[in-house]
Amino acid sequence: MIHKNIKRLISVAVATGMLAFGAVAGEVEVLHWWTSGGEAKSVAELKRLLEADGHTWKDFAVAGGGGESAMTVLKSRVVSGNPPTAAQIKGPSIQEWGDEGVLANLDEVAKAKGWDDVLPAVVSDVMKYNGNYVAVPVNVHRVNWMWVNPEVFKKAGAKIPTTWDEFSEAAEKIQKAGFIPVAHGGQAWQDATTFESIVLGVGGADFYKKAFVDLDSKSLNSPTMVKAFDVLREVKKYTDKDAPGRDWNLATAMVIKGEAAMQFMGDWAKGEFTAAGKMAGKDFGCYPAPGTKGTFTFNIDSFVMFDVGGGDAAKAQQAMASTIMEPEFQEIFNLNKGSIPARLNMPRDKFDVCAHDSMDEFVGSAGTGGLVPSMAHGMSVFSAVQGAIYDVVTSFYNSDMSSTDAAKQLLSAVQSSL
Ligand code: BGC
Repeated sequence: MIHKNIKRLISVAVATGMLAFGAVAGEVEVLHWWTSGGEAKSVAELKRLLEADGHTWKDFAVAGGGGESAMTVLKSRVVSGNPPTAAQIKGPSIQEWGDEGVLANLDEVAKAKGWDDVLPAVVSDVMKYNGNYVAVPVNVHRVNWMWVNPEVFKKAGAKIPTTWDEFSEAAEKIQKAGFIPVAHGGQAWQDATTFESIVLGVGGADFYKKAFVDLDSKSLNSPTMVKAFDVLREVKKYTDKDAPGRDWNLATAMVIKGEAAMQFMGDWAKGEFTAAGKMAGKDFGCYPAPGTKGTFTFNIDSFVMFDVGGGDAAKAQQAMASTIMEPEFQEIFNLNKGSIPARLNMPRDKFDVCAHDSMDEFVGSAGTGGLVPSMAHGMSVFSAVQGAIYDVVTSFYNSDMSSTDAAKQLLSAVQSSL
């Protein structure tokens, strides 16, 4: 009798499409660092969809913007032979984890759902290790944004800057009017986020790629890099005294509340504006960081799946991967997160002007060579190199080191990290 009922329930579930790929409920333990207001709302959507399919969500959140703390915790879990089902891991690091031989293979679900056809190659390439899918993308973030409170600009009589020279003019006026020109959080990853936008704005996309992708020595220690450090020093001049250690979302809140005029941050900041009920194009503005129009620094969030040894756990894991790639998830998650879907040909109507701009630039910049991977967000270099760059940028930011010395140190730090 029980047996018959279960059989009946399963056939109903299958007929109504209740069970997703894999069709077996299980637990998924998911490591991520999405703990700010907008981030938490986004990840809650993934939990909701998986629970609707009968799976159990075990949250493994490790706070800390940019994910450095999360990665440290992940390493110790994997080393002790107890990896989570999935972890938020991105870019070249996926290859490093692949080398460890601890990842699951997602080719079956990828093939069944046609991932190769619905993902742009710039995204799907990152998700594969030795040609096999080991990760699944949730979004594409654009990093080279400047978030603006238009009221503050208006009150200060300042113009939205499109070059770094204009930035200084605007910042000067804003400061005189009694506002904080730049909301910043003095943490290594935030310093690096601002710095990479400056390098892109000062040097252009080709220079950026030579420096932060090819690690070309003549670019790392060059007059252009010296100029970029000068601009970083100039930006610091317009931050407030409480910036050291501040979390990025608290900096965003300063722009939301009209205490500060702008923030240089990726579009996860938009998730904060949205969560606070603010409207893009009206309550806040999104502009490319000075000098970076027509370029796009991409940061693709993805979940890497660990080998969980088959059975229900593996089936639930495959179901999670499948759900993430569904249009329903890609839409709702990205509406909350501030990013754009990783999947191609998604309807655009529910997205705001900033997302539309991002979607257009993502495609446009790919055609003109302006699409570049984010160094600060782990998309362009291995973690050791990224760490070396962070160290130099941050020690420059927090000392009176000259820009010439910083460029020299950048080259030597990169070289010794290789
Ligand atoms: C991640 C984003 C996250 C941000 C701040 C970035 O590295 O890609 O998803 O919102 O860090 O935590």
